[in-house]
Amino acid sequence: MKTIVANWKMNVGVRESVALARGTLLTVRGRKMIPELIVCPPFVALGEVKKVVARSAASLGAQNMSSEDSGAFTGEISARMLQELGVSSVILGHSERRALFGETDEQIAKKVQQAFAHQMTPIVCVGESTEERDAGTAREVVRNQLAGALSNTRLRGSDTLFVAYEPIWAIGTGRSAEIGDVLEMHAFIRSIVSEVFSDASAKQIRVLYGGSVNGDNAYQFFREEEVDGVLVGGASVKLNQFREIVDAAAEVLEAQSPI
Ligand code: PGA
Repeated sequence: MKTIVANWKMNVGVRESVALARGTLLTVRGRKMIPELIVCPPFVALGEVKKVVARSAASLGAQNMSSEDSGAFTGEISARMLQELGVSSVILGHSERRALFGETDEQIAKKVQQAFAHQMTPIVCVGESTEERDAGTAREVVRNQLAGALSNTRLRGSDTLFVAYEPIWAIGTGRSAEIGDVLEMHAFIRSIVSEVFSDASAKQIRVLYGGSVNGDNAYQFFREEEVDGVLVGGASVKLNQFREIVDAAAEVLEAQSPI
């Protein structure tokens, strides 16, 4: 299975989200083999987009949520509220949240626990900055982020956990990471999960790549067994681009499927 997470960020309103959701579904229509699609509109569009994707090949994701259960947290959205709207996955610890809104590993860990407590699949984002890569500390950064996000969490056999490796310098820059570096980091991510939980968990988690994925470079990621899918920002709100990414995934899935 290959997964495509579409992170629409703060780029579309409610009406545009509905249109984009319809267009996104058209990209998989009539195909034999389709990737798993998770669309992540802004909070305000979740309810309307849910109506579009209900009983379709796509499921609904949120871009963030509160680390708290309920209470006096003005402006926050809880896991329970998202669950009520039919959200089944949630992006947590995106680098934009870490950098622009000061999210810490401790908060992200609480969000991961909230997600599991409300039957949602966390999509935990990790990744190093340019300076950290140049300084040779990329692995250490990713280890700290991931071990931090997973602290005090138990992974049951039935739980799904996505980890998205998104080097910060590749996000929104048009410069994706080299496939060799992606494979190395994906294997490293599994080794951390195996340390934190178990070897079985390391096999059970799904590792995505994110950062300037587009129609031109998607195939090289999907083709690798170690890459379970991609998290797409900019190209997910441009349907012609997104269709090419779906094409690349479908091509790999069709080549792998027994006739
Ligand atoms: P991008 O964003 O595809 O525009 O680089 C990826 C992300 O922020 O998750």
